[in-house]
This record gives sequence, C-alpha cells and structure tokens, in this order.
Amino acid sequence: MSLSETLLSAKSLGVTYGAKRRLFGPADGGNKVLHGVDIDIRRGETVGIVGESGSGKTTLGRALLRLVDVSAGAIHFDGRDITHMPDAEMRPLRRRMQMIFQDPMASLNPRHTIRRILVEPLLLHGLETDRQAAERRVAMILERVTLPQTCLDRNPHELSGGQRQRIGIARAALLEPDFVLADEIVSGLDVSTQAQVLNLLKELSRDLGLSMAFISHDLSVIRAICDRVYVMRHGRVVEEGDCDRVFAAPASGYTRMLLDAIPLPEIDPTWLGRETEQEDAA
Ligand SMILES: Nc1ncnc2c1ncn2[C@@H]1O[C@H](COP(=O)(O)OP(=O)(O)O)[C@@H](O)[C@H]1O
Ligand SMILES: [Mg+2]
Repeated sequence: MSLSETLLSAKSLGVTYGAKRRLFGPADGGNKVLHGVDIDIRRGETVGIVGESGSGKTTLGRALLRLVDVSAGAIHFDGRDITHMPDAEMRPLRRRMQMIFQDPMASLNPRHTIRRILVEPLLLHGLETDRQAAERRVAMILERVTLPQTCLDRNPHELSGGQRQRIGIARAALLEPDFVLADEIVSGLDVSTQAQVLNLLKELSRDLGLSMAFISHDLSVIRAICDRVYVMRHGRVVEEGDCDRVFAAPASGYTRMLLDAIPLPEIDPTWLGRETEQEDAA
C-alpha cells in the first residue's frame, strides 16, 4: 500500500440544493453551496476539512459519499468514477465508505440494544453469515474501543456521550471500510473526552490503514489528528496543505483569521501525543 495513491477524489465538484431539473440545459435556480471543489484523499491518510458553520463542509463530505446529488464535476473512488453510478452498483461500495456522525443519539436506533446495533450490519453486509461469529467479532471491537461488554445489553441513551461516540466508531470500523467520514464527531464532548476519542480514532485508522476525512470547525481538533487540511469558505477551498505548514504559515488571510480565533491554551498540538505516551508508559 502506497501512501501517495489516491483513494477518493473530487474534481471541480459543484452541489446545488433544490435546483429544478430541466430536460435540456443546466438545472435551474436552487442554492449553489459548493463551487468547483478539488479534493484528494490518499490511502492511509487523514484529511481535515475546516471552515466556519455554513461553509459547505458537511455538503462536501456527503457528496464524496454520494449522499447528496452532485451538479457538477466528478468523484472517483478506488479508481472508479462514481459520480453518477446507479444505486445498485454503489451498494457494494457503500460498505467500504463509512460515516461517523456528529450526534450518535440521532444515528443509533434508541430502541435497539448496542448488541443489535453492532451485530446487524455485519450480517446485513454479509461479513459474517453466522450470528455467533458476528457476536464474537463485536466483542472484540468493543474491547478495541475500550468499552465493557456489559454495554452490549444497554440502549444508546444509557451510555455517556463519549461511550456513544465509541460505539459509532466501532460500528464504522466493524465493516472494514477503506474510507471513513467523521463529521464534527467530538463537538459535543468535553476536552478530555475529545482527546480520548481522537486518540482512539487515530490508533484505529493507523492499525486498519484507513483513509479518513475529518470535518471540524475547530482547528485545534484538526491539528491533533490530521495529516493534511483543506480550509473552506463559502463553498470553496481557500487553502490546502500539510497541517504543519498551514498552521505554521497560513497562506490565506481567512485561515489566519480562523487560527487567531482559537483560544490559545487549546492549540497546544502536543496534547494528544502526550496522552498516548502516558498510556504507553502505564
Ligand atoms: N439539505 C439542504 N438543503 C438546502 N440547503 C442546505 C442543505 N444542507 C445545507 N444547506 C445549505 O448549504 C450551505 C452549507 O451547509 P453545510 O454543508 O451544512 O455547511 P457546514 O457543514 O460547513 O456547516 C448552508 O448555507 C446551508 O444552509
Ligand atoms: Mg456541518
């Protein structure tokens, strides 16, 4: 596996919400929210997407997964053009492109036990055909995300926010994806829980060789976990580069403004590494 190989990319991507389709000519009207976005996500790489609320981050992430209609440009996944791929053809690719949501309460069925939430997708996607084998796999991933097995008999609302987010991560990782989209997944958590969840995700993505797009409005979170970053404003990419470079010497005035807006104590880029070292030493 070569790190320079592109797994998922978009070229000149445009998304317009609510446009009227016309038989001939371009779609009519609507709210144009992405304008000619280029993005490349390489194998094994974690790419950050940052920008203020409303800048188009979620739309970009969802367009990459083909969850919103693309009105211009092209998307390639693993060498294939998926821009207008029919649903039936997309289905086997869906398992390989997973998403972790901002609010796990909204994405985990409140009436189901954690066991059911984790076991069913394995059977549904045919990764396991036998329920007991699926349960064994679930028990292993639970350990991997450091949750007690007693969680299995609970419902989502009986867990803490951090625990629920670990379930969201476990559910995505179980399906052995190539690509994971994480959209504001630590926004609702306190800073120390954020660090734990980010640490876990960083380890998992390294161990599984995952490619990740990590969306956040918070540059200090991006810095803690990403290799490269795209800065978005008004539906356009205004800056792209290695995190180290972008944070040390932002080229865009907008990036500089975002950096200036971070409260200073939170921008210590070593906090994540420090915590890992302590765990290793323990
Ligand atoms: N389903 C939708 N229908 C219409 N407009 C939308 C929809 N989702 C988002 N928008 C608009 O698109 C723009 C970008 O939103 P979004 O992608 O959610 O940005 P971000 O994730 O950066 O906050 C905003 O102006 C938002 O109001
Ligand atoms: Mg968003």
